[in-house]
Amino acid sequence: MAKKQEKVVDVPWSSSCNWWLVGSCSLQYVAIFFVSILFTIAFYTNANREAGILQTVSLLSFYSSSSGEKHHDLISNCDLFSGTWVYDNKSLPVYKDSSCTFMFGDLACEQYGRKDLDYQYWRWQPHNCDLPKFDAKAILNKLRDKRLVFVGDSLNRNQFVSFVCLIESSIPSSFKSMTTRKNLNSFYAKEYNATIGFYWAPFLVESNSDDPANHHENNRVVRVHSIEKHGKYWAAADILVFDSYLWWRAGDVKVIWESSLKNPNAVYEIMDSRKCFAIVLNTWTKWVLGNVDSSKTRLFWMSMSPTHSRASVWGRDDNPLQCYNETQLATKEQLRRRGPDPEMLRVTVSAIESLKKRGIKIDFLNITGLSEYRKDAHPSIYRKQWRPLTESQLADPVSYSDCTHWCLPGVPDVWNQLLYTYLLY
Ligand SMILES: *[C@@H]1O[C@H](CO)[C@@H](O)[C@H](O)[C@H]1NC(C)=O
Ligand SMILES: *[C@@H]1O[C@H](CO)[C@@H](O)[C@H](O)[C@H]1NC(C)=O
Ligand SMILES: *[C@@H]1O[C@H](CO)[C@@H](O)[C@H](O)[C@H]1NC(C)=O
Ligand SMILES: *[C@@H]1O[C@H](CO)[C@@H](O)[C@H](O)[C@H]1NC(C)=O
Repeated sequence: MAKKQEKVVDVPWSSSCNWWLVGSCSLQYVAIFFVSILFTIAFYTNANREAGILQTVSLLSFYSSSSGEKHHDLISNCDLFSGTWVYDNKSLPVYKDSSCTFMFGDLACEQYGRKDLDYQYWRWQPHNCDLPKFDAKAILNKLRDKRLVFVGDSLNRNQFVSFVCLIESSIPSSFKSMTTRKNLNSFYAKEYNATIGFYWAPFLVESNSDDPANHHENNRVVRVHSIEKHGKYWAAADILVFDSYLWWRAGDVKVIWESSLKNPNAVYEIMDSRKCFAIVLNTWTKWVLGNVDSSKTRLFWMSMSPTHSRASVWGRDDNPLQCYNETQLATKEQLRRRGPDPEMLRVTVSAIESLKKRGIKIDFLNITGLSEYRKDAHPSIYRKQWRPLTESQLADPVSYSDCTHWCLPGVPDVWNQLLYTYLLY
């Protein structure tokens, strides 16, 4: 993985000219000039003749697409994250968990015994527009000769598996493969020379939880300034999708500033994990400024994926079952409360804003609110059990319910539909 070009800190162009359009800025001005003239002509000659107006409109779209700004209206004119879930058992599900070649057992709810299947039949409907359908061929063409990497924790892996399942059925078996090398899983679509990867880095920076299979859940040690060890594996990607939330939720972490993780005499500082998160985001921000070629790479941040491990989230303090046995969506009334962890949200948004001020655009995919409705959509007990269950577990299903990850097909497919919309529209 080649090291990217030198620092790209000071970006001179103005915000009126978005960074991913830089090459076409001058064209854009030419287009605006032409369009103004056309409008003037249309207005003065015959403002009421519909045909004339239609012609002007189609010329306008011709010029705006040649300036590279094609369809950008969908995202700027419509809040894709504000909407409702609509039951749709006609067009959904797009795939079956049992037929996806690269499914993870942890997420294959139907295959592992879930009988109520309504969780597969909900599509997200923004209030003011329709989400484009996820078209596997279109996204593969977009990713031709490119690499997209999801970087983060198991929620991002959940989204990665969803992404692969959404596209893989359109590719013949000899033209696709999955490889795993340490922290990096890579799906490769040969005909397109397109790679979709997932890189395990739950704290983004180096930590004692970096082993993707065997990580310490307790006693977490985070080396707050060390990101290069992971970053070198994704610095050259064309599209990067980050998340980091879940691992910061619980209590304190041990922080190491400079010394190596392996040094038995390293001096630790015990720190509140949210405070540590802010420091790590600062490390990450510096890494982005120093390593990302912003004329080439697109960046996304996935907002917090909500858990349903407490029924108080949907206003049922008396329900001890968490998400177990939940088959219905939460209602808007039930969710009337503040979202999960406003402090972490604030820190994240401010890191993204600070990068924006320095010319680096990151799209924040605000999936928290829409996912909160979906208390029905977690695996709970319907997933691959890696170890045999004990008798006391079997007697108490809640004790081994997963109310954090999401069944596939399901909610992460919608996250990917949103990502798709940002990439193609
Ligand atoms: C879709 O759902 C409706 C309402 O629940 C039901 O009547 C219909 O049979 C379902 N169709 C399919 C194809 O499952
Ligand atoms: C395949 O894609 C990679 C980027 O992911 C690129 O570096 C390489 O040149 C491409 N190969 C061909 C044959 O186009
Ligand atoms: C789960 O839901 C079903 C149907 O709503 C109900 O009959 C059953 O008692 C519930 N199970 C538990 C453990 O509450
Ligand atoms: C995220 O979306 C929710 C609606 O689901 C909205 O209330 C909230 O303001 C949004 N937050 C940000 C930071 O955009």
